[in-house]
Amino acid sequence: MNEAVFQRCIHPHCGGIASLADTSFHCPRCGGLLDVAYDWNHLTPPKSLRSFEAKWAERTNPLSFSGVWRFRDLLPFAAPEKILTIGEGQTILQKTDAVAAYAGLKPGCLFLQYEGLNPSGSFKDNGMTAAFTHARMVGARRAACASTGNTSASLAIFCAATHLMRAIIFIGSGKIAYGKLAQALDHGALTVQIAGDFDDALERVQQVSGRLGIYLVNSINPFRLEGQKAIMYRILEALRWEVPDWVVVPGGNLGNVSSFGKAFAELRDLGLIPRTPRLAVINAAGANTFYQLYEKQGLRWNRGRPEQATIDGYMKQMDAANLRASTLASAIEINRPVNLPKALRALEECGGVVREVTDQEMLDAKAQVGAGGLGCEPASAASVAGTKKLRAEGVIGSDERVVCVLTGHQLKDPTATVAYHSADPKTFEEVLGKRGVKRASFANRAVQVPNDLDEIIKAIEVYA
Ligand code: F0G
Repeated sequence: MNEAVFQRCIHPHCGGIASLADTSFHCPRCGGLLDVAYDWNHLTPPKSLRSFEAKWAERTNPLSFSGVWRFRDLLPFAAPEKILTIGEGQTILQKTDAVAAYAGLKPGCLFLQYEGLNPSGSFKDNGMTAAFTHARMVGARRAACASTGNTSASLAIFCAATHLMRAIIFIGSGKIAYGKLAQALDHGALTVQIAGDFDDALERVQQVSGRLGIYLVNSINPFRLEGQKAIMYRILEALRWEVPDWVVVPGGNLGNVSSFGKAFAELRDLGLIPRTPRLAVINAAGANTFYQLYEKQGLRWNRGRPEQATIDGYMKQMDAANLRASTLASAIEINRPVNLPKALRALEECGGVVREVTDQEMLDAKAQVGAGGLGCEPASAASVAGTKKLRAEGVIGSDERVVCVLTGHQLKDPTATVAYHSADPKTFEEVLGKRGVKRASFANRAVQVPNDLDEIIKAIEVYA
């Protein structure tokens, strides 16, 4: 099997190749990003997407139960006995007309892909099972990541559940939501808090893992992105294999959009879907490098030769101004996305757009998602806020079918949620006001009542 699977430089003109077992995750020729590549002539791709339905009857087999590995014919880099799964990917696609109305879409047009249902509460488990499997294939004993919280929670849970590796996580100071930090600590990860932000932590973890030979699970690792392709397979499955018009996703390190673009391009090239959906990436306004470069400066994939001077110039400008990412949506508080070139390629493949949304817009959208019956963290709601914006601009039509990916669970960041709904102006100001959030238009405040039966009954009759 192995000669049919290898790693390949994403830049077509480079032609750099690395073996399946290579863990440097950089092209040996040009230093660029790598893809996991398949020679389909020597593999057995599925004949149709419907063929995956047979897996539903095999749910007692953990590989068929997994929402990632039941699609293993589309990420065939591991022998079945090497695969490590903790039951990831049991997620749902929920049609929601209340949120559709908020975003300006007709009933039946908006779907939320709820990745908060994963074992660690975010989409990261889709990629972690794949990276872990690769780590096991190469005999790694330690795995590391820099994280805004969810990657670290996912790495920590996989290490704790399998006892096959030691988790080492790098986080920035004061840059991680409490729920996520709680997970890493509870699952026993070695947690290194560095004086800096995510961009600093990511640079350091790459240096450290290179020096100490530790397996890196950040999304620069192309095996992570192979696992995340399955989120798109599950969306197609839930839509009975019909392709939606749009997939909208928050953008941080740009791993998701890169992975989604690869998933759809492969399905199209294998003749399994007739067209790709369009992709929309939503940045936080306080961490909007991708938006700036793609929409304002016109940076494009350009057949594998994106204008490096544009990227370098922008980064230099950020350094000169000491501009640091700053948003309440800590999951996407990232100014130097490592997957930038892959994301450009994905947008070219799938007719993509990028938008930015403010913390205010995200929190309002988050409250609407909550009132609509699913709970997500602030960063995840960027997808709904972005859809609303694209709808208002007329880029998305009111009767197009749109899937917003809700990347992480509501309980990841209870601080922001409680502050939004809080009746206490001091709490609001401390958590949200100082970040520029002015109103909580959809707040659901707790009702204060004396400890008196008549007063309690009166309050209930007034409000419900
Ligand atoms: N949404 C959530 C909830 C996330 O945790 C992240 C990334 C993203 C969106 C952005 O995804 O990087 O694929 O564009 N979190 C990383 C972490 C960086 O460390 O947990 P992306």
